[in-house]
Formats: sequence, structure tokens, C-alpha cells
Amino acid sequence: MTNVTFEKKKARRFSETAKNYWLDITLFIAFVVDMNVRFTGIPIHEWLGIAFGTALIYHLMLHWKWIVQITKRLFTQLPAKQRLRYIVDLLLFVDMVIVVITGIWISRVVAQQLNIPSLRTRYFDWLHETSAELAIILVGLHIALSWKWIATNTKKYILRL
Ligand code: HEM
Ligand code: HEM
Repeated sequence: MTNVTFEKKKARRFSETAKNYWLDITLFIAFVVDMNVRFTGIPIHEWLGIAFGTALIYHLMLHWKWIVQITKRLFTQLPAKQRLRYIVDLLLFVDMVIVVITGIWISRVVAQQLNIPSLRTRYFDWLHETSAELAIILVGLHIALSWKWIATNTKKYILRL
């Protein structure tokens, strides 16, 4: 490999990590802010929740290779940590789908603005709040399992060490 190709490859890899890092930070801040409905108010809560759901699709696309590879190896040999990661991610995925979908169902502002019927019931209200609270634990575990990666890249991109 020539030096130029090597440098190009290195630069591309660097930007992939940077992309992941800043998206992860954005997701985290959006999640924390959106958990505080009294602080945001309903309109911001609803639109930020939808933006979060969209950013999450991008987050999954960036990790698509990992998802496919681990799914294939799930029933064969796989280190315990990867298996744990997969289980946490799967639960998180199901939970987040419930949070965003029930959010749209119970929405006050978005439903009115987009002229879609509101399916607001006590049960969906409860499901939205409960799945959001469960997400705090699952997001915590999800982040904890990547703690080393986060620390390394925080030193690199924020602390500039
Ligand atoms: C607040 C929301 C979230 C934050 C802050 C977050 C953060 C992170 C971080 C720091 C990583 C490791 C570094 C990287 O390569 O990007 C990661 C990886 C990953 N995330 Fe998320 N994530 C969030 C939500 C989700 C959700 C809902 C899913 C759905 C399943 C998901 C799926 C994945 C997958 C598949 C990986 C790669 C494998 C792994 O390291 O677990 N993430 N995420
Ligand atoms: C990251 C995604 C989301 C999280 C973490 C989240 C979290 C929460 C929480 C914790 C509550 C309970 C607030 C309380 O009563 O103390 C709530 C309420 C609510 N959420 Fe979400 N939500 C999200 C997405 C959405 C979306 C996408 C929508 C609609 C488009 C939505 C619409 C609502 C509505 C209408 C309420 C009821 C507010 C009220 O009437 O008091 N949420 N959400």
C-alpha cells in the first residue's frame, strides 16, 4: 500500500470514529433533555423525540455491519461480552421503538399539526412513561459497555490529549 493510500485510509477511519462519537454525544444529550418534559414543554418534547428517533436510525445504520456479524455468530461461538452487548442492544431497541411509537400515539401537538388521529389513552400514557424510564437503565448499560471507547475518544476529541 502506498503512503498516500494508507494516509487516506487512516483519515477515513478517523472520520468514521468522529462521526460516531459526535452522533453518540448528540443522542445522549437529546435523550437527557427529552426525559425532562417539564423543562422542554410538550411541543419541543414531541419534536425532539421524533428527531431523536430519526437520529437513532442513523446510529443503527452506522453499526449495521456489527449487527449483521454478531447476529450470524449468535448461536455459535461468541465472547460473553459481545453476547451481553447484543442482548442489551436488542432490549434497548425494542424499548426505544415503544417509547417513540407510543409518544406519537399520545401526542398532543404533532398529531394536531400533522392532522393525524390521536390515540391518547391512559394505557399508552403509562406505557410511554414506563418504557422511557426503563430506557434510562438500558441506555446506562449500553453506555457502560462502551466505557473504554468513550473515555479514549473524549480524551481525543474534547480534552484534546
Ligand atoms: C441515548 C441513546 C444512545 C447512546 C448515547 C448510544 C451510544 C453508543 C455508544 C457510545 C456506542 C459505542 C461507540 C460507537 O461505536 O458508536 C454505541 C454503539 C452501538 N449502539 Fe448505541 N447509543 C444509544 C442508543 C442506541 C439504541 C436505542 C440502539 C438500538 C439497538 C443502539 C445500538 C447500538 C449498536 C448496535 C452499537 C454497536 C455495538 C455496541 O457497541 O453495542 N444504540 N452506542
Ligand atoms: C427520546 C424519546 C422520548 C422520551 C425519552 C420521552 C419521555 C417521556 C416521559 C418521561 C414522559 C412523562 C412526563 C411526565 O408526565 O412526567 C413523557 C410524556 C409525554 N411524551 Fe414523551 N418521550 C419521548 C418521545 C416522545 C415523542 C416522539 C412524542 C410525540 C411525538 C412524545 C409525546 C409525549 C406526550 C404527549 C407526553 C405527555 C405529556 C403530558 O401530557 O404530561 N414523547 N415522555
